[in-house]
Amino acid sequence: MSSTSATTTTAIVGIAALVTNDPSLGDASPLGLIRDAAVVIEGDRVAWTGESSKAPATDNRVDAGGRAVVPGFVDSHSHLVFAGDRTEEFTARVSGRAYSAGGIRTTVAATRTATDGELEANLTRYLAEALRQGTTTVETKSGYGLTVRDEARALRVAAAHTDEVTYLGAHIVPPDHAEDPAAYVALVTGEMLDACAPYARWVDVFCEQGAFDGDQARAVLTAGRARGLHPRVHANQLTYGPGVQLAVELDAASADHCTHLTDQDVDALADSATVATLLPGAEFSTRAAWPDARRLLDAGVTVALATDCNPGSSFTSSVPFCIALAVRDMGMTPDEALWSATAGGARALRRDDVGRLSPGARADLALLDAPSHVHLAYRPGVPLVSQVWRRGVRVA
Ligand code: NIG
Ligand code: FE
Repeated sequence: MSSTSATTTTAIVGIAALVTNDPSLGDASPLGLIRDAAVVIEGDRVAWTGESSKAPATDNRVDAGGRAVVPGFVDSHSHLVFAGDRTEEFTARVSGRAYSAGGIRTTVAATRTATDGELEANLTRYLAEALRQGTTTVETKSGYGLTVRDEARALRVAAAHTDEVTYLGAHIVPPDHAEDPAAYVALVTGEMLDACAPYARWVDVFCEQGAFDGDQARAVLTAGRARGLHPRVHANQLTYGPGVQLAVELDAASADHCTHLTDQDVDALADSATVATLLPGAEFSTRAAWPDARRLLDAGVTVALATDCNPGSSFTSSVPFCIALAVRDMGMTPDEALWSATAGGARALRRDDVGRLSPGARADLALLDAPSHVHLAYRPGVPLVSQVWRRGVRVA
């Protein structure tokens, strides 16, 4: 850590409250909160955390000025490769029309006619928007192409910007296959998978009435797994169904939405390594009943919070907004919500290098214009993120 070392060292000092998510540090809570703290960055990694007065000498020094510092948010569920928007559908919905998965077709039509350049420009715009709001790791999916060519190019575009890329050829059965869903599942598990697997880390399916049933979802996930993709599932969003049980059975990294759960679903999640990822932007935007985070947490389920950013059911890229909703309406404490949006997201992506700020972690962090992370829920809608650092570099 001396100035003679090959990599630059920077100390961010004067932090009123540092969330490390390492319970062996600070106040020994799950957040591992250190007051009057400093974090030392060496290259792209955290090298040291502790009390500001004990910070070692470094090449550079940045004064946080009494702000809080949190790990960069890990948004483990988004759909950012698309064209167009659904303003008309939204306007109709706020006037009383119910949300249905059918609106996905509108975005599929717009996405198929967009150029690669247009898709990439949209993606980078939403990623930049998320970064300014403190998000330093983003998972994103295909699912608005639904042809071999359009799914593969969506994933190719995504893979140029994030490591966390998910193949969602099984988002809905597209209109061109409406008469023969079995043929579409054969495409998704065959030729489309072959074209998409090189760009993706994960395989996902929308297991829901009006999308794919349990047997179809199992076929999609097992085919993806056989090609080296790890499962995650859109499960139990609009109705009760087999998605959560299937996710647990296949050791999916995450069951996402989890809005309609039986006691058996909760028990299955509690006994598994599958994270329940809650997406309150969707319930907010579709005026649906909230998922019961308290029930899951009390049962011992690991919970992640993510945005689900997409043009239909949740057009927000703001993790702080989701934290505020989770605290206001889903029974989470401010500490739990922050943990779920950072360490929980990392668990949902089976990552241990992000979502924490202890030695060895990636130096991904956000400075808040607030003395405590609690203000993320306490001051909803206020842009509290004042600086964002990713891989040890200030990027916003
Ligand atoms: O996660 N549930 C399925 N897919 C998205 C919605 C996509 C859309 O409406 O365009 C979701 O909410
Ligand atoms: Fe989604």
